[in-house]
Amino acid sequence: MSSFIKPTQLRAYGVDEIDADHADIMAIANRLFDGVQQHRAEQTLGDLLAELVDRCERHFQYEESFFRVLRNAKAAAAHKADHDILRKRLEAIQTDFAEQPAASHSLLTLAVLRDYLLEHIKTFDAELETRIVSESLSMAC
Ligand SMILES: [Fe+2]
Ligand SMILES: [Fe+2]
Repeated sequence: MSSFIKPTQLRAYGVDEIDADHADIMAIANRLFDGVQQHRAEQTLGDLLAELVDRCERHFQYEESFFRVLRNAKAAAAHKADHDILRKRLEAIQTDFAEQPAASHSLLTLAVLRDYLLEHIKTFDAELETRIVSESLSMAC
């Protein structure tokens, strides 16, 4: 089992769907990290990376669906901007991988992505979930 991201590094903030998404994303990131460490086939790593990008995008869109009904538009805009940074980072990793599969996806690149994601969850997502709970927003969309 991967030690890239340990379950103890992920806290739940009260919105089950979002917390479950985070656990899913981190599980995929762990599989990708293990795959890189074990020198798995390029196809396998490419598939895992595509899965990670797709899972993150669906998750970001889910969180962003709450932005329209939140009272704090400034916080929503800042949160969206941070998602966009993550989107660009993921896109850059995918581009690097497509161009140079062997050289890319270094463990360091993945560690930087992990740290950014964990920090995002601890700050922007924790704040969003707290608001969803306190404003009783049960429906996104
Ligand atoms: Fe977020
Ligand atoms: Fe999130």
